[in-house]
Amino acid sequence: PATDFDLRPCNTLALPGRAARYLKISAADELAAPDLARDRRFILGGGSNLVLTGDFDGLVLHMAIFGKHLLKEDAEAFYIEAGAGENWHEFVQWTLRQGWPGLENLSLIPGTVGAAPIQNIGAYGLEVGECFQALTAWDFEKQAFFQIDRSACRFAYRDSLFKQEGWHLSGRMAITSVVFRLPKKWMPNLRYADVSQELAAQHIATPTPQNIADAIVAVRQRKLPDPARIPNAGSFFHNPVVTKVQAEALKAAHPTLPSYPQPDGRVKLAAGWLIEQAGWRGKNLGPVGMYEKQALVLVNRGGATGADVRRTMAAVQADVAARFAVALTPEPIFL
Ligand code: EPU
Repeated sequence: PATDFDLRPCNTLALPGRAARYLKISAADELAAPDLARDRRFILGGGSNLVLTGDFDGLVLHMAIFGKHLLKEDAEAFYIEAGAGENWHEFVQWTLRQGWPGLENLSLIPGTVGAAPIQNIGAYGLEVGECFQALTAWDFEKQAFFQIDRSACRFAYRDSLFKQEGWHLSGRMAITSVVFRLPKKWMPNLRYADVSQELAAQHIATPTPQNIADAIVAVRQRKLPDPARIPNAGSFFHNPVVTKVQAEALKAAHPTLPSYPQPDGRVKLAAGWLIEQAGWRGKNLGPVGMYEKQALVLVNRGGATGADVRRTMAAVQADVAARFAVALTPEPIFL
């Protein structure tokens, strides 16, 4: 492994920090080297959901396993396998070019294929768990590969088995490849108003999968900052899910609060709205602020450290709690 490795270019918030040791993994069997099991580990993908709080006195394994292919096909679906290191957006665009639609609503999400199942990435009415078949991962404790299918992954809103068990943050396992199941019967997923409005503005009445991908790219580019220009990690908090009683009380006091009833009877609230109402849209505390076009996105205005991120995060949480009695949970992983 390399030593004293600079992690700033490896996290989209551009926070400073160094890894004591760093190794790029380009083939799954490299994970079986006994040395790797002894070290404290962190598994790095695209670094787009990561808050680096300082130096890491362990081994960073940077997943760079590439490759993608049609694994099999049956009467109902295409099954596509991709290496964990594949860039998510490029992978989605490739599936569309091959004529295998289904992932188009997840266009332009930063990060890698291997990271996608961990937080069950979702956007514009689709979560990756819905198109997920299975994955292969290396277990550093058992020193063996294992496969796990969709039902065992316990996918939920921004959540999975891997987060619930803390396996990702502890470095217990590294996902090496993922298989997606894309049904042959395709239906446009236009549940999200932003997408249908964008298509209407482009005068597209019967959209193709590529039309939907392009519309989502346009919507995202309008609202979300490009990490290459304004460092960020996407939505910084989960949309909070509260009881029906609490949601009704909040709606009575704040009739414009966006709310989405959940299958379990609880209600999801728009964190961006709460943060904006608490006065944080476009506001900074030192070098860290909340983005002016989408208050849920925390941005590094330049030169921020992990401590600066923590300070702004805590201030936003305190103001939202004081005003609405709602607790905001951060979405990224803290290292
Ligand atoms: N809103 C405001 N002010 C703001 C931001 C949002 O009032 O500053 C309101 C909007 O007007 C809208 C509602 O809040 O009524 C929801 O906003 P938006 O459609 O932008 O989506 P979101 O709930 O803020 C979630 C995901 C995004 C995903 C979008 C689209 C989470 C934590 N975030 O954001 O995911 O792209 O929906 O589906 O669930 C990410 O996870 O990094 C991410 C970008």
